[in-house]
Amino acid sequence: MAEYFDRRAPTYGSWFKQSLGNRTVDNLEKEAVLRLLMPPSGKKKLTILEIGVGRGRIARYLLNNLPIESYMGVDISRRMIRTLKKEKIKGLKLIWYKGERLPLKRRMDSVISIRQIKYNQNLANQLLLMKKNLIKNGILIIEFPSCYSVSGIRNLFIKSSGVLVDPFRLKKAVKELGFTAIIMEPLRYLPDNVYALTNGKTMLTVVLILEKWLRKILPYWLAKSILLKARLS
Ligand SMILES: C[S@@+](CC[C@H](N)C(=O)[O-])C[C@H]1O[C@@H](n2cnc3c(N)ncnc32)[C@H](O)[C@@H]1O
Repeated sequence: MAEYFDRRAPTYGSWFKQSLGNRTVDNLEKEAVLRLLMPPSGKKKLTILEIGVGRGRIARYLLNNLPIESYMGVDISRRMIRTLKKEKIKGLKLIWYKGERLPLKRRMDSVISIRQIKYNQNLANQLLLMKKNLIKNGILIIEFPSCYSVSGIRNLFIKSSGVLVDPFRLKKAVKELGFTAIIMEPLRYLPDNVYALTNGKTMLTVVLILEKWLRKILPYWLAKSILLKARLS
């Protein structure tokens, strides 16, 4: 997996800028994560650990929009970390993660994983790692693609990179680790490719209306992208 992302490091993130639809996917995702992390007013500044920081798409946004004391980004791809380091993002600390350097010395208020968990074949291991780095009452956020979505069904015939996640299995595993207040919310029902083909305000409006409608009639587990939030008790 590290080699796969090493090869993609120089261009990773460009997909999110390609068309109006791609930029919408980017914005919807970042805004949803921000909303789930937003502390109650008056709360102290947050400490965040992001597993699979990539090119810092989420990190950059959260650093600009949340009161943050410390943001640590780790990634299995050395090249991704090296490339991101060159961008010198204020407040972002980076670690090339090979498995042995976590947990960190200090536990964090929140540990997040966006578009990353599907690349880890060992779900249990990753959840344990995320838990070990959280304070009591800390918040876990995981974005993942559901195996029951249209993409999941397509994946039965045409294999894509990574593994699509079973939302029920994930929820059970998170619960067994001592997390409570687990919420799962659909982020998008339509596959990324639909957004990638959306380049115009009219088309985008149609796509967003369709998303709203799907949200009303379909259960969360059929969504292409789901956000899980849980509290460590
Ligand atoms: C699709 S990118 C997402 C990057 C970023 N979170 C975002 O949303 O833009 C996935 C990233 O996770 C990293 N990654 C994959 N498996 C990992 C693991 N087991 N531990 C840490 N990072 C991992 C990859 O190297 C890659 O940079």
